[in-house]
Amino acid sequence: MSNYHSIDGMSYALEKQKARARRSKRIVIATIAGVLVLIAVGVTAGILVSKNNSKSSTTTGTKSNSKDPSNFTKDPRLHKSFYGLAYTPEGSLMPNCGNSLDHVIKDIQIISQLTSRIRLYGADCNQTALVLEAIKQTKVDVEVFLGNYVVATEPTAYERQRNTIKDAILTYGTDHIAGITVGNEFMLNYVTLKQSLDPNGPAGIEGAAILKGDIDDTRNMLTSLNLKKNIPVGNSDAGSFFNKDILASIDYGMSNVHAWFANTTAEGASAWVNEFFQESNLKPAAALPNQPKMYIAETGWPSASSDVANANNGGSDASIAGLQTFLDTFVCEANQNGIGYFYFEYRDEEWKDIQYGGVEGHWGLFNKDGTFKDITIPNCPAP
Ligand SMILES: *[C@@H]1O[C@H](CO)[C@@H](O)[C@H](O)[C@H]1NC(C)=O
Ligand SMILES: *[C@@H]1O[C@H](CO)[C@@H](O)[C@H](O)[C@H]1NC(C)=O
Ligand SMILES: *[C@@H]1O[C@H](CO)[C@@H](O)[C@H](O)[C@H]1NC(C)=O
Repeated sequence: MSNYHSIDGMSYALEKQKARARRSKRIVIATIAGVLVLIAVGVTAGILVSKNNSKSSTTTGTKSNSKDPSNFTKDPRLHKSFYGLAYTPEGSLMPNCGNSLDHVIKDIQIISQLTSRIRLYGADCNQTALVLEAIKQTKVDVEVFLGNYVVATEPTAYERQRNTIKDAILTYGTDHIAGITVGNEFMLNYVTLKQSLDPNGPAGIEGAAILKGDIDDTRNMLTSLNLKKNIPVGNSDAGSFFNKDILASIDYGMSNVHAWFANTTAEGASAWVNEFFQESNLKPAAALPNQPKMYIAETGWPSASSDVANANNGGSDASIAGLQTFLDTFVCEANQNGIGYFYFEYRDEEWKDIQYGGVEGHWGLFNKDGTFKDITIPNCPAP
């Protein structure tokens, strides 16, 4: 029993690494094909999205009543039960930007009926401004943890996103900004690329120095703006991949905690997530002088797999029933226990299914076309 966490933590890490290794192999093959497919998808997506939009507006029951985005009908099936939601506006991946304010407004109208907090992963394709503009126009009570997706091999990616985040702060102010998350799974990617699983080993120290530079730079950017409100600066990573120096230099950490990749059953997933988060994230963070606030950055359950090999994790199937079980056992209990979490995720992301296959594109509460999955949202107001 005393080894329970480290064993599960390691199997989690190994699973994650294997998943990534499978991905990187596929990425190489899929990139060329993917670019061609994405062009085709991009062209048809324009048609499909406009079609599905009218479809989803009836099937979600959330309708814009007039030209005023703040005037929309609420869907009785949705409840503000989630502490937070992980959200990426569709079409926010360089170089295939295809998002639009209309679509983001529609998403925010729905999201605001589920939670009062979202987290973004990056700032490319103008998604920071689009989300803040949508919140402004819908007048909803939603705050955003902005994201800067740091890429080790592309130093300009950080700067480009920092500049658009800065512009968005100057345009929209800080009222709806809850924090800036610098780096997402940066350490996981950095150390596993160097054949390591240790975020505090030599590869981890090297990666952490890069990330720490970007975190400090974001703080300097905020200082230079002379803001009245203090904006927390944080970082998100896989649950077993927080580097000590990074944790010691952030206001908050967001940790991906996925029972699916640890081969738990759907019934056992909630308990596993809570124990993992407690042992691997909350306790180490509380022992540091700066005591960074820890959130679960992602947790959820896939409702399907695009291939047979990933249809079962050894414990349970990727299924609607599993998703419902996880919602029923995790959400209200986490609210009661005061755990800050971002449910993963708002909607299925089609690009992930195209690029990675398996369960990657199937974690949403909503299908990729915006229709609501056949689930019941737990009804317990989130803190
Ligand atoms: C909201 O939209 C409905 C339907 O278009 C309209 O009847 C109503 O007057 C609008 N309410 C406000 C406050 O604009
Ligand atoms: C970014 O989005 C905002 C809000 O919709 C818009 O005002 C601005 O023009 C957009 N910028 C670009 C470069 O698309
Ligand atoms: C988890 O389940 C998968 C699929 O059945 C299997 O390939 C893998 O070895 C299992 N991992 C562990 C640590 O049990």
